[in-house]
Amino acid sequence: MQHILVTGGAGRLGSLVVKHLSAAGYRVHGMSRRASPGEDWPGAEWKQADLVTGEGLSRAVQGMDVVVHTAGQGTWQVDFEGTRRLLDAARLAGVSHVVYISIMGIDRVLYNYGKVKLACEDLIEHSGISWSILRATQFHYLIELMLHKLTRLPLVLLVPTDLLLQPVAEEEVAGRLCEIVQAGPSGRLPDMGGPQVYTSGELARIWLKQHGMHRIILPIFLPGKTARGLRQGGNTCPQQATGTISWEAWLQHH
Ligand SMILES: NC(=O)c1ccc[n+]([C@@H]2O[C@H](COP(=O)([O-])OP(=O)(O)OC[C@H]3O[C@@H](n4cnc5c(N)ncnc54)[C@H](OP(=O)(O)O)[C@@H]3O)[C@@H](O)[C@H]2O)c1
Repeated sequence: MQHILVTGGAGRLGSLVVKHLSAAGYRVHGMSRRASPGEDWPGAEWKQADLVTGEGLSRAVQGMDVVVHTAGQGTWQVDFEGTRRLLDAARLAGVSHVVYISIMGIDRVLYNYGKVKLACEDLIEHSGISWSILRATQFHYLIELMLHKLTRLPLVLLVPTDLLLQPVAEEEVAGRLCEIVQAGPSGRLPDMGGPQVYTSGELARIWLKQHGMHRIILPIFLPGKTARGLRQGGNTCPQQATGTISWEAWLQHH
């Protein structure tokens, strides 16, 4: 039976990956900085390790066949330096496949997190370990989190309404990562986006309606290259709308 390490195993995507892989019959190990998982964590084996200090990493990768790397914070220190440490340890341990989750459009829309992810992709491609990389669009939960933060003000919702987004259900991305583990090293895979491209204004209107909240949407204009890229749909992939759970359907279930 193959042993799989899921970094970020307690994270939003990582814990879903653990669930999918366990259901598929793999021996799954979740990695986290925490000493133990929460009560509702869906897996069995737990590895405590820190990508920044390197503590616990060699032990975490020991005996693993595959590493699904979902841990990250969007910083150079955690993502880039941490990925480099993880790959060094994985190479020494004889890991045969690294699966990496990246972000759609990082080569088209310029922002710091995207630059860090691009550099991580490059590390993986040149790691000497067989690899697979999947780029996905923004997860539904992230859009929900951002809208929650924006509704702290009463009566109004100040939001850019003209950005193009194609959110995808993190559950479906986790399922896709499980398929990639099953398929074996595949290199750069077709991107994965949700079923529909929305404007940020539409996402906000649907979200308010589903929550039964009344706010007047006040559009704000975001200046700069990143916002321009988002207005042009640089982080969407309408040709790869392989996710099936729409924003409306996801909200109804959460
Ligand atoms: N969110 C999106 O919309 C989206 C879209 C496309 C791709 N992605 C990618 O998907 C991945 C997962 O995203 P997510 O939204 O599920 O993130 P998340 O819930 O924040 O999970 C990230 C995990 O990284 C772990 N981590 C952070 N610093 C660490 C360190 N120093 N050492 C070890 N682990 C560390 C954390 O684990 P502990 O706190 O348990 O240690 C955390 O559970 C990321 O690589 C992200 O770039 C996200």
